[in-house]
Amino acid sequence: MSTDKKISRRDALKRMGIAVVSTAFASSGLLSVASCEKKGNKRIIFYFTGTGNCLHVARQLAGDDAELLSIPQMMKHGKYEFEADEIGIVYPIYGHMPPYMVRQFIQKANLKANYKFAVLTYGARKCDAVEIWDNISRNAGNSFNYISTIVMVDNWLPNFDMNEQMKIDKHIPENLQKITADLNLRKHWHEPVTEEERQQHQGFLERSGLDPEVGFLMKSEKHFTVTNACIDCGICTYVCPRGNYELTSKGVKMSGDCEFCFACIQNCPQKAIQFVKSEDGSFPDGTEKNPNARYRNEHVSLMDLKLANNQKL
Ligand SMILES: Cc1cc2nc3c(=O)[nH]c(=O)nc-3n(C[C@H](O)[C@H](O)[C@H](O)COP(=O)(O)O)c2cc1C
Ligand code: SF4
Ligand code: SF4
Repeated sequence: MSTDKKISRRDALKRMGIAVVSTAFASSGLLSVASCEKKGNKRIIFYFTGTGNCLHVARQLAGDDAELLSIPQMMKHGKYEFEADEIGIVYPIYGHMPPYMVRQFIQKANLKANYKFAVLTYGARKCDAVEIWDNISRNAGNSFNYISTIVMVDNWLPNFDMNEQMKIDKHIPENLQKITADLNLRKHWHEPVTEEERQQHQGFLERSGLDPEVGFLMKSEKHFTVTNACIDCGICTYVCPRGNYELTSKGVKMSGDCEFCFACIQNCPQKAIQFVKSEDGSFPDGTEKNPNARYRNEHVSLMDLKLANNQKL
């Protein structure tokens, strides 16, 4: 007699839905906040992501065993004490610097581990990002044994056409393999930085006027606007790690300190969120390469991003 149990299509979909949601939940860290804290799991990896590159990298480095924790979720829950054998962090460089939330997190966190590693994703020019992270983390009492960069799609809309970026082979699987091998050996290494790269970063700071102690921290209402193409779908209210968007009876409202991660603008299905042109041409001036091209990492779903960044729950 067959032991196979036939299930209805509805039940099957229901089960698949639960499986999908729980996988996504696991990578946001919502299920594991309580379980991993101070327990000494083998490897914990923290990540910050706007368009999914860092979540993809974090997942690849996590393999089957590591605990993946979203920095915006940890900060929302006020979790800053962690202990494990190995602790990693994956974040996108913004003007060669960490996102402001990542900077705040590392300054508040107490990360206890025998081995700490950082992997910084970027799109075109990393400059002295490795040294910048080394200084920030060391000053915060959380120094890292291994710091590497990895090149991905560049999601900086002012300079890059997302459709063109997606066509470029950036050798991501090969580079991930190399980093994975380093981490398995617990290699102690900081990717070298040249004097020219330091100078390039100084030049960028002068041109942009950004404060090196802060990096990108803008006012969303100053730099973005929502056009009447908006259909009130609410996606922007879930993907913003700052919770800057709100659905109101008069449509979407947005305001507040902004990481400039572009999760909102890149994931709006209507392309209804647009840059505001700056009147005096100050950085960033509000122009973009291709307003019709938008990007999310091909291995990362919209649900993944909502769970990683959502500030509502
Ligand atoms: C505000 C901002 C600034 C950026 N600055 C740089 C940069 O200085 N150099 C670079 O190569 N890429 C830069 N990028 C590209 C991102 O670092 C890169 O696309 C990253 O992989 C995005 O990760 P995510 O998909 O996890 O958000 C910048 C992107 C943004 C949104
Ligand atoms: S994601 Fe776009 S369409 Fe959806 S509510 Fe936000 S602005 Fe409107
Ligand atoms: S407003 Fe947009 S760019 Fe700013 S933090 Fe929120 S999602 Fe990121």
